[in-house]
Amino acid sequence: MASSIATPRLLRLAILISGRGSNMAALLKAEAEGFFNTASGQGFVALVLSNRPEAAGIATARAAHKPVCLLDHKAFESRHDFDAALSAVLQAANIDWVILAGYDRILGLPVLSAFPDRILNIHPSLLPKFGGKGMVGLSVHEAVLAAKESESGCTVHSVIAQVDAGPILGQARVAVLPDDTPESLAARVLSAENALYPKVVRHHVLGA
Ligand code: GRF
Repeated sequence: MASSIATPRLLRLAILISGRGSNMAALLKAEAEGFFNTASGQGFVALVLSNRPEAAGIATARAAHKPVCLLDHKAFESRHDFDAALSAVLQAANIDWVILAGYDRILGLPVLSAFPDRILNIHPSLLPKFGGKGMVGLSVHEAVLAAKESESGCTVHSVIAQVDAGPILGQARVAVLPDDTPESLAARVLSAENALYPKVVRHHVLGA
């Protein structure tokens, strides 16, 4: 007799990094704790890819026994060639969702067209504020302090061709304190990021 119980779908995630990898570490921890095992599907981090061979997060991914791909963008003649190679790697690994976690390249058409509405990014501000080209790293927090904002935070959004402009999927807020420096604000936002990203992946990717 055929069973009417549907098998939860296995969704293969790729995490793309360029540096420290704290958001990747938070996602790997969530996965290890079973947070991505839901009734409707299971999220499995099938690949960690870095475009920078020196990225500190690579060691973290290896320690978690994840397959790591190093794809150095400097080895390619053009942005398009690199993006085509990146897209080919992701498709060869049968990736369903691409999770950008401190990935410092703007994604081109070869990747965007292969994964429509299936690429997520996290940004360290309350988008649409303090987003767009050049709004990276400490510049974001410097701009927040210069604007005398009373709060900041982070945003997970779907990735489209326009930088930091895709649909917002989740946000977390933090206070801006009177004695904040860009560094202290960055640290407070980063811990909010590390808590938010697994929740949004679970909700948006796995529908739980
Ligand atoms: C985070 O602040 C993220 O919002 C931004 O790049 C930083 C990456 O940090 N896109 P980490 O590498 O995940 O620690």
